[in-house]
Amino acid sequence: MLKLVQEGEIPVHVAVIMDGNGRWAERRGLPRIAGHKAGMETLREIIGCADEIGIKIMTFFAFSTENWKRPSWEVSFLMHLPEEYLQKELTTLIKKNVVIKTIGDFANLPKHTVRAVSNALKLTSNNTGLIVNFALNYGGRAEIVEAARHVARKVARDELSPDAINAELLAAHLYTRDIPDPDLLIRPSGELRISNFLLWQMAYTELWFTKILWPDFKKEDFLRAILNFQKRERRFGGIKK
Ligand code: FPP
Repeated sequence: MLKLVQEGEIPVHVAVIMDGNGRWAERRGLPRIAGHKAGMETLREIIGCADEIGIKIMTFFAFSTENWKRPSWEVSFLMHLPEEYLQKELTTLIKKNVVIKTIGDFANLPKHTVRAVSNALKLTSNNTGLIVNFALNYGGRAEIVEAARHVARKVARDELSPDAINAELLAAHLYTRDIPDPDLLIRPSGELRISNFLLWQMAYTELWFTKILWPDFKKEDFLRAILNFQKRERRFGGIKK
């Protein structure tokens, strides 16, 4: 399957909602956190595969602005995951020339999370390979609201005319200002929604859903999603070429 994928068009940017960790654990009679740990292994496998096939950007939804509603013990565990992941993986990621980035309200995460992730951002900032972009404390609506605020402030300071506000200008105020919109969204676990993820950026993204839970999601499933993407006809509102 790898060879088949490599013969086709490789999406530049793939976004992933890593969903189903909790259910994976519950079905095995394990605590939910065991599901998140298993999900971290999947993350490692998928990053390796994305790098192998030449995807340029992977964005992973790791923690949403709505995830604070979870019990405090789970939130606290999730806040330690980036540290744990980076402790295990950072050396390999640096060797692979990976650039780590984040989107979201990063500054309002616990200090220990900010410290660990900032260190990874710094240590990979001069790399030139695959961009691994983590959405941490991210919400699509909050992102658009924040961008609108920035633009409004510029208008209030007379630095910008309201007539100059267009889609490009607004997009230039989003967290994703320096990366292209996703070509493909993958959501495992059987949920058929986008859950406030990259709302603006997904206007023309191809969506791929599977019932497989994230900890069970393997390289072959990822390649299957890419193969399916390669069969799609993307018209971006236009007509067939
Ligand atoms: C959704 O499953 C998953 C999360 C909220 C956390 C995802 C995080 C990881 C896989 C760890 C890696 C993260 C970093 C930044 C290295 P769920 O708990 O909503 O599952 P459920 O819907 O079955 O309950």
